[in-house]
Amino acid sequence: MPRTPHALIFPLPMQGPVSCMLRLAELLCISGIPVTFLTTDHIHRTLLRHTNVLTRFSRYNNFRFRTISDGLPDDHPRSGERIMEVFEGMKRVTEPVFREMMVSGCFSTESDFPVTVVIPDGVFSFALGVAEEVKVPLIFYDTVSPSALWTYLCLPKLIEAGEVPFNGKDLDVMIKNVPGTETFLRRRDLPSFYRLDDLDNPVTEIILKEARCVPRAHGLILNTFQALDEPVLVHMRTLCPNIYCIGPIHTLYKSRLNKEPVVPTAQKSQLNVSNSLWEENITCLSWLDRQVTRSVIYVSIGSMATMTVDQFFEFWHGLVNSGKPFLWVQRPGSVRGSYDDDQVPKHLVDGTKQRGFITTWVPQEAVLAHSAIGGFLTHSGWNSTIESIMEGVPMICWPQNVDQQVNSRFVSEVWKIGIDIKDTCDRVIVEKAVRDVIDVRRSEFTESTRILGELGSQSVAENGSSVLDLNRLIKTISSL
Ligand code: UDX
Repeated sequence: MPRTPHALIFPLPMQGPVSCMLRLAELLCISGIPVTFLTTDHIHRTLLRHTNVLTRFSRYNNFRFRTISDGLPDDHPRSGERIMEVFEGMKRVTEPVFREMMVSGCFSTESDFPVTVVIPDGVFSFALGVAEEVKVPLIFYDTVSPSALWTYLCLPKLIEAGEVPFNGKDLDVMIKNVPGTETFLRRRDLPSFYRLDDLDNPVTEIILKEARCVPRAHGLILNTFQALDEPVLVHMRTLCPNIYCIGPIHTLYKSRLNKEPVVPTAQKSQLNVSNSLWEENITCLSWLDRQVTRSVIYVSIGSMATMTVDQFFEFWHGLVNSGKPFLWVQRPGSVRGSYDDDQVPKHLVDGTKQRGFITTWVPQEAVLAHSAIGGFLTHSGWNSTIESIMEGVPMICWPQNVDQQVNSRFVSEVWKIGIDIKDTCDRVIVEKAVRDVIDVRRSEFTESTRILGELGSQSVAENGSSVLDLNRLIKTISSL
């Protein structure tokens, strides 16, 4: 007898992946597919504290949350340099519990409501082993950028060809074994963990496992649209033929929800669909209302990246010296180390009072959509990048880890929608980049960003490529 479809969505416990997967969960629920959203206790608690997810999802009787331990004490720090401890905790505790849930527990064929498809983050290779063991199809949802994922999938080839680990210290050597990127990708544009001298480390192990497992899955979901990433996708399909590009997921989500009669009008406003793991300060929007059109530089390094106190001061000087208004997100814990207030030069304090707005977390999509924003100084996380593209906001990229080094190269050299300042942190460079984006090169960047944003909008319009891929995904899940 055919089983009722039941998707188990299992995100990496981080801001970007959790937001992307919650959106996919809601899109599936609207299409009549029952969903269980499995997340760590820590993420679940944080979502309950800062968002209205419970109310939002209560309108779907085919949705439920389930939680699992990440193996760390409640008060353990989980961002920045401590992220590897989450992976260690999950390996120790989450993996065996997940296996038990799938083999004989609440998701198994013996349960009241067996899971018929598993949709985990692309980095959860262990989930593939379990899904194969219980013969349940698995579709990875890789929430990093396709270009970075492509460098992961090419890692075995890069090692075999002797390109990784790097032979010598020159980071400007061109990379030859990531097909489609030969003319612009340098060593420094590969994910930062490729810079390690020794392959025998936990991060390389995780990436190599991912490179082996992703092609074995039933399919691969990506948060991109075809017109943006086709030059990479064309190569990726040789390894993973069944790819669903359903991005930009935040735009596709909004356009679908806006058409849904079951969604109350008040919840169609983006401020009411926050998935933030920090308290959002919405007063920044009234501050933006008082600024000149396209004059403000928005600064954020996302949910995991950090900077030293010295780097923090270089940014601060650069921003104040640029003379442009700035909205700066300083996430708690994002600056490593401390400083005394009397170390802060008077002109920084005065410049910030006159032109700055500093806060701990903002509703970023609403900020980027605000007409006062003229540029985004970003760590080049994939969600930030694609959100900026959709709002036509040019970027200054200061990448730190994961996919960010690759993304910033695509921003500057492929899409030509911003400036890549990777591997530098200097007040003069920051000042110049801000002036370039807001004034000097403004028309060049806004035009190229506008064109990409329009292609993105077309992909989520009727019969757009992302809509068609989402429909194909829904059909596949229903038939598995
Ligand atoms: C990092 C990687 O760079 C990313 O590509 C990967 O998918 C997950 O790990 P992160 O540091 O979280 O991600 O950055 P990003 O992918 O840009 O996601 C940050 C999210 O937080 C964005 O959706 C952004 O809108 C949101 N955000 C950020 C806010 O809502 N408010 C803020 O103040 C800052």
